[in-house]
Amino acid sequence: LSFALCLLPSVRDRLASPLWQLLQKAFQEAETRGWHLYLVGGAVRDLLLADNEGQVLLEDIDLVVDGFHRSADVGAGVELAKALQQVYPAARLEVHGQFQTAALLWHNDPDLGSLWVDIATARTEFYPYPAANPEVEASSIRQDLYRRDFTINALAVRLTEPRAGELLDFFGGVLDLQSQQIRVLHANSFIEDPTRIYRAVRFAVRLGFEIEPQTERYIRHAIASGIYEQVQGKNGRAPALETRLKSELKYILQAPYWKAALNLLADLGALRCIHPTLELDKNLWWQVRLLARCLRRFDAQKSLEHWQMRLEVLIAYLATEYRGKVANNLQLPTDSIARLQNLDKAQFEVVENLPKCEQISKLVQLLRRYDLPTLILVAVKNPRFVRRNIWRYLTEWRNIKAPLNGNDLKALGYKPGPQYSKMLDVLLAATLDGVVCVNEASPQEIRAAAEAFLAEHFPLASKTKY
Ligand code: CTP
Repeated sequence: LSFALCLLPSVRDRLASPLWQLLQKAFQEAETRGWHLYLVGGAVRDLLLADNEGQVLLEDIDLVVDGFHRSADVGAGVELAKALQQVYPAARLEVHGQFQTAALLWHNDPDLGSLWVDIATARTEFYPYPAANPEVEASSIRQDLYRRDFTINALAVRLTEPRAGELLDFFGGVLDLQSQQIRVLHANSFIEDPTRIYRAVRFAVRLGFEIEPQTERYIRHAIASGIYEQVQGKNGRAPALETRLKSELKYILQAPYWKAALNLLADLGALRCIHPTLELDKNLWWQVRLLARCLRRFDAQKSLEHWQMRLEVLIAYLATEYRGKVANNLQLPTDSIARLQNLDKAQFEVVENLPKCEQISKLVQLLRRYDLPTLILVAVKNPRFVRRNIWRYLTEWRNIKAPLNGNDLKALGYKPGPQYSKMLDVLLAATLDGVVCVNEASPQEIRAAAEAFLAEHFPLASKTKY
């Protein structure tokens, strides 16, 4: 089905003008070569969903060229990308020859901002075995669209003449946009690419759509048939699949709607793609919510990767022996993998020793051995007593400093040397334990108390005067 309606004016009106100029340049280059050029995928979806007024911010654009190049080795998409790069030398060109696709990338460009334009050659992908990397053949736009994930992502606008501006909707995408349905194009979609399960959830939650019932059955069937094992490095996996799962997880866990998405993934049984034993039970849900509180309180500046901490809490809920492997498969950074592998040890030390800390200084000595993410993971996994002490350590105790520093010791006449750090440690402990610091004392009073404390514990006899 195609709409004769010319969409070009509305595409033009909704795009920032430098982006529209880029598209114009692209379709002129294609036309001079006798090729067809299409805008496809998310951009078409988002343009159709947008209000009548206002611009649509697109940072990611997919173009498909339908045309044959004289050389069998270079797809039309690659040649078009090269031609565009001549016009836009600031763009970085990436060519993925095997798939006949190219990408042009702009980073903080004064006109185009940050933009990623993928240019593919119309093609059919066929999967020699489920979940493997696609092999590519040149083919028509319909076939190109047919290999895509959902009907709402399988729409195209023809940019070149004849019939420029025509909307191509072979699979009922417009109807699904109107009735707000996420629908796959064929029954094997999730078997071919299990990461589409995560994409279905992402689009459903982000757009406020429903996963169409038959599509949901396909998801459940794919999961019941053990497709998730493909993602976990069994049965001759395609490693690219783990990369894609990780990027979908990241997308979901860093989005504002991550809680709803996590619940929907759990409801579909799709957390099994992370590990077959992973379930979002009441306890894990509680931990995930506690984490949200911790991150709000201790990392408002977002120095940690919050999406990754969410993923770490999920992985930390698995039995110890699985954690390292799952973190490895998902290609988490090495410090994160190490943290998950050593979590039991850290947890044991903290839980064992916390009750023995009769003074705050001892507790601080115990907890300061661990980094913030480890303490957060231990806090969310443990009962109130442990949690409260970690919480107070992070909010109050770790910020307390000794009232004097090395310069002060020097001014008091102590000879500089390694003993300074011991003296300052003892002073800090005394401050933490309230021996030095009197509540509501003025800075002068605190200083005087600290000096008196030093004089008592490191008396004149043991200090070497200049
Ligand atoms: N696609 C697919 N299967 C996947 C990933 C992507 O079929 N596993 C197709 C979809 O048609 C999608 C297009 O590739 O529209 C581009 O992918 P991507 O940029 O990830 O998705 P967008 O739809 O552009 O989504 P977003 O707006 O979130 O970037």
